[in-house]
Amino acid sequence: MGTTTRENIPTKEEFSLFQTLVHNRLGINLPAHKRVMLGHRLFKRLNALQLNNFRDYFNYINHLEHTKELETALELITTNETFFFREEKHFEFLQQKVLPNISVNKTFKIWSAAASTGEEPYSIAMLMQYHCRSSWQLMASDVNNSVLTHARKGIYNDERARFLPAHYRKEFCMKGIDEFQGFMRVKPSIRNKVQYFTFNLLDDMASIGMVDLIFIRNVMIYFTDETRQKIIDNIQTILNPKGWLFISHSETLHGLSHDFNIVQPAIYQRK
Ligand SMILES: C[S@@+](CC[C@H](N)C(=O)[O-])C[C@H]1O[C@@H](n2cnc3c(N)ncnc32)[C@H](O)[C@@H]1O
Repeated sequence: MGTTTRENIPTKEEFSLFQTLVHNRLGINLPAHKRVMLGHRLFKRLNALQLNNFRDYFNYINHLEHTKELETALELITTNETFFFREEKHFEFLQQKVLPNISVNKTFKIWSAAASTGEEPYSIAMLMQYHCRSSWQLMASDVNNSVLTHARKGIYNDERARFLPAHYRKEFCMKGIDEFQGFMRVKPSIRNKVQYFTFNLLDDMASIGMVDLIFIRNVMIYFTDETRQKIIDNIQTILNPKGWLFISHSETLHGLSHDFNIVQPAIYQRK
């Protein structure tokens, strides 16, 4: 008697508060079927803060003094799933079609725009270091600071690296021993090639500068068409003519107005 039982699934009204928050902050469209998932992910925070329901938690994270908790909530809600050499067709295309045609007189600039814990930018960096004889530069960003902290450390369990080709692993990774058995660490020669920074894709991209190739994969899938259109418009202002855009094979630019030729599924080139 007297103890409070917390519900671990938000009511529809509570859920709609989080839908609006996530949409406004990140552009992400949380569909109704994610209500249970949201509840499971945030429930431990309600418990930790001794709050009775999701509305109280919502009010808590919106308080000016609790911006750190707001960040934590957004991090718990978003999906960070990634792994080395995910969607290998992009890496084959980069090696076989893009690299042979890049200018030797100019630095080739790449941006990994939703880098998560770093597997994507490190896959790119390994390929570039191994195969590219011209000068190149790689930027990687994400809205979530925790995933970038992980990325900078560059330590991964073997599961994340299951598609990492053996020659890259041999050349660019250190094998964990003792308590790090089952883990590997990306060598500094590769880690130092990636410039990490926090960036929200809803923001103006002018600060990024002009680039030649953008990886923006498995993130636009969560956005509304309106947000996707804004991002594509923005991307077109910083991608050089004939520059490349790689999106996920589960995403499409279909229905958006843009200035790209589709070269093969999930690979676009600016006109
Ligand atoms: C599923 S991961 C994709 C990782 C990698 N690109 C891949 O394809 O494996 C999605 C990432 O998008 C990030 N993200 C979500 N909304 C974002 C936004 N508005 N701006 C920048 N990054 C965002 C998340 O933090 C997450 O790390």
